[in-house]
Amino acid sequence: MKKKIRLGFIGGGHNSLIGILHKISAYMHDRYEIVGGVFNSKYEDSLESAREIGITKDRIYKDVDDMIAVENEIPTESRIEAVCILTPNNSHFEIAKKFLENKYHIICEKPLTISLGEAKYLLSIKEKNNLVFAVTHTYTGYPMVRQMTKMISEGLIGNIQRVDSQYLQGWINPIIHEKKKRKSSWRLDPKISGISSCVADIGTHAFNMLELVTGLKVHKVLSDINSLYNDNPLDIDANILVRMNNGAKGVIRSSQIATGEENNLRVSIYGDKGYLKWQQENPNKLYFLKENEPIKVLKPGHEYNYPITLNSSKLPPGHPEGIFDAMGNIYLGAAKAIRGENFYDHEFPTIYEGVRGMDFIEKVIESHNRGNVWLELEK
Ligand SMILES: NC(=O)c1ccc[n+]([C@@H]2O[C@H](COP(=O)([O-])OP(=O)(O)OC[C@H]3O[C@@H](n4cnc5c(N)ncnc54)[C@H](O)[C@@H]3O)[C@@H](O)[C@H]2O)c1
Repeated sequence: MKKKIRLGFIGGGHNSLIGILHKISAYMHDRYEIVGGVFNSKYEDSLESAREIGITKDRIYKDVDDMIAVENEIPTESRIEAVCILTPNNSHFEIAKKFLENKYHIICEKPLTISLGEAKYLLSIKEKNNLVFAVTHTYTGYPMVRQMTKMISEGLIGNIQRVDSQYLQGWINPIIHEKKKRKSSWRLDPKISGISSCVADIGTHAFNMLELVTGLKVHKVLSDINSLYNDNPLDIDANILVRMNNGAKGVIRSSQIATGEENNLRVSIYGDKGYLKWQQENPNKLYFLKENEPIKVLKPGHEYNYPITLNSSKLPPGHPEGIFDAMGNIYLGAAKAIRGENFYDHEFPTIYEGVRGMDFIEKVIESHNRGNVWLELEK
């Protein structure tokens, strides 16, 4: 049996939204063991989080500095090797920087940081110290997203001529219209969320998905964002025109006030020979359309899929797998990289995608603030 990677958690405690997804996914392929960390901002809560999952008190730390000081003294064969950062956006940079400087591999939530400058700085330390740095764009782990990426790269829809990627949610609608309620979410607080709410939180997923599946880069953006109320400082809705680096045009839409929407991430790519469409609320179906042909619906687990797709599901066709499995696939890819094993292209999203995401957020907000102008992303 392969030796498990000793994993530390920062954030992701029992009261957090995303912690449970990471805990289950980390164990899914028997490649990691959670051995300690700082699960919550308050030590008592962190101890409670640890108790719930059977981690002993001696590897639960008061803060990141305490954790690094103690872990660095533990013999390498027992020391934490990789750290999973699941705190709100504004703390990712400081936490990741400290662990990278001390040579720990990183698995970090998106958005990577709250500025492009910070993101690039993390990239420079990661490269200098030759570490693995995954950024958990969860949806890239779905088998049919991987199938779509490969089909497009093999030319099955021809030259891409139009792109359309969206992530629509409605959860802010019930809190945005009352001043008091608006203060209840850190996602609307610029000190914690950064310069953006909606684009940083979910627009980045739509952007990442677009660049992943097309294999192209977004060259320019022109955005029109909405915050609904003057005292709400951050975007909660964004319509973004994009031009890709092959000249194709299209749109990225993201919203937290699309009333009634849940997690409606959808990516539609139109080539001159065909069209592929994938939607996360129906993730095991990939729609392939061509002129004058009946629609094809591809599903996981069938031999017609590419090896990376077949290796992204665990059960025979017809057994629905979902978001936990998608995140599990990302953890598996990162584990292979940490252990120096071969892995597929795009088996896990990296810090490079995290840096692209930060460039996207900054340009989208700047484009709107300068009067809806076209701005180029960095190459
Ligand atoms: N990949 C995805 O689809 C996805 C989905 C949801 C959230 N996220 C990202 O995950 C991150 C966390 O979001 P969330 O919704 O789980 O937040 P949350 O507010 O629900 O939970 C944050 C947790 O971090 C802990 N925490 C805060 N500061 C800490 C510190 N300095 N040290 C240790 N623990 C600390 C809190 O006690 C809490 O348990 C955000 O960056 C968010 O954008 C990603």
